[in-house]
Amino acid sequence: MNPAKKDVSSKQHQRLLGAARKAMQRAYAPYSQFKVGAALLTSEGEVFTGCNVENASYGLSNCAERTAIFAAIAQSGPNLNIRAIAVVNDQGVPCSPCGACRQVIYEFGPDATVFFQGSKGWKQSHITELLPEGFRLK
Ligand code: THU
Repeated sequence: MNPAKKDVSSKQHQRLLGAARKAMQRAYAPYSQFKVGAALLTSEGEVFTGCNVENASYGLSNCAERTAIFAAIAQSGPNLNIRAIAVVNDQGVPCSPCGACRQVIYEFGPDATVFFQGSKGWKQSHITELLPEGFRLK
């Protein structure tokens, strides 16, 4: 069976949440005061993390999800296959990945599961629910 198709176990889910919380503490968010952490699980079973990194030129800020994905590629190479990605924030408020991050998650995880806080509590969504008709240059 393709490992990317396997469900993410609750142990892996918990591992991702813990790693995302740890990464969140390293966020650079002096402008929004909104710290975000993300942790992704690859099809190889590795975990990579990221936090948001803001800039005085606000539009240059990078979200936690994209930081995690770019860190994974920088550390492990371009053959990244995201099985799951979890997002947490320090205010316990709803926070689903932004549109740009959804497209970047889709690039490396067309079958990814996304864990995030929704308006009615924690949610688990397939990336294609969050991003229907994602763009692929193929
Ligand atoms: N942010 C993330 O890092 N991930 C999200 O899913 C939503 C928003 C960051 C961007 C910015 O640094 C701060 O949260 C406020 O928008």
